[in-house]
Amino acid sequence: MAAAPRPDLLDRLAVRTAERESAQLLRRLRTIEHADGPWLECGGRRLLGFCSNDYLGLAQHPQVIAAFKRVADDEGVGSTSAHLICGHRAEHAALEEALAAWTGRARALLFSTGYMANLGVLQALLERGDLCVQDKLNHACLLDGAQLSGAELKRYPHADVAAAARQLASRRDAAALLATDGVFSMDGDTAPLRELAALCTREHATLMVDDAHGLGVLGERGGGSVEAAGLGSREVPVLMATLGKALGCAGAFVAGSVDLIEGLTQFARPYIYTTAMPPALAAAALAAVQLAQAESWRRDKLGALIERFRQGARQLGLPLLPSASAIQPLRLGDAQAALDAAQALEQRGLLVGAIRPPTVPAGQARLRITLSAAHSEEQVDQLLDALASLPAPAAARG
Ligand SMILES: Cc1ncc(COP(=O)(O)O)c(C=O)c1O
Repeated sequence: MAAAPRPDLLDRLAVRTAERESAQLLRRLRTIEHADGPWLECGGRRLLGFCSNDYLGLAQHPQVIAAFKRVADDEGVGSTSAHLICGHRAEHAALEEALAAWTGRARALLFSTGYMANLGVLQALLERGDLCVQDKLNHACLLDGAQLSGAELKRYPHADVAAAARQLASRRDAAALLATDGVFSMDGDTAPLRELAALCTREHATLMVDDAHGLGVLGERGGGSVEAAGLGSREVPVLMATLGKALGCAGAFVAGSVDLIEGLTQFARPYIYTTAMPPALAAAALAAVQLAQAESWRRDKLGALIERFRQGARQLGLPLLPSASAIQPLRLGDAQAALDAAQALEQRGLLVGAIRPPTVPAGQARLRITLSAAHSEEQVDQLLDALASLPAPAAARG
């Protein structure tokens, strides 16, 4: 009997893309021609953006730009190598020291992206036969990291500490990691960190927090959701955060004990086998860390804008999710409703991301509105006016 013809991988991919298109779920790339604070030029139009993760407005801060330029002038652009060969420069070392001090950890280790940091931590810590317990709404890279590690992955319903406890208790023989976003990237709410920390202590599990969206924004010193929850390195021994959000740069780090960082240096493949971030970027991130630490007025201003937005949205009866962070999603349900709403806002000169499945569960499409200290009160009011004028069902008043 003749063997069935071998499936063609590119054909199969094209079929999946076509299926996504017919379900109205195709992702489309948009080229931004120019960015100026929260303003974005796109297709020749100037739009007011409520979709970036530049929560403190540091991406274009003169001191951050000057640090980048100075080191690029002195050292060139590329790091020219992996950290463990000759890519680890004085700028990386200084940034790691500052990040460790800021987060109250003994050491920190830089990664080129947050995605790689999470893959690296989970792959280095976990082995086949171990247990990895995660919130269902964790970022994709935490889930991918667990899969890469070969550990058994159990996902508990969002923020459900009792369910997490049951999952940990189901395998008391196994080494276990509980990993959670600190601030959830598509919902903006904060994980129940104190309860999760107590659970991990009881169950002898290791707690890892991905604070990509909390660092710089939450906590009195901007130390993030873990600082805001009053937790230290004993309760949260593995802390990861990114440099591409509130710090306005790119890259990420893991902070923790000397043993954790030494171990990651030996075993985290996405750390070992990749080019170190450009030293100029590390210098820019250090300038951003210094600003985020020293100048709390940006956090205060962002907090006031969040409050203003939530109050206005409540008055309009908009279906806001419970979030105290810079991420303020409006859940609209249907993917088409989210797209229609984003399009209607764009016609009024505002750029807001429509987030659809599979990034969020089916039936939970939303506008992911993000606020920044770079916005003004008038701009937040402009957004509220535009939201008020959205036609039903896009407005989906709650
Ligand atoms: C919670 C969370 N973790 C990790 C990442 C990945 O970070 P990076 O963009 O640096 O790869 C993101 C978003 O990008 C995120 O939202």
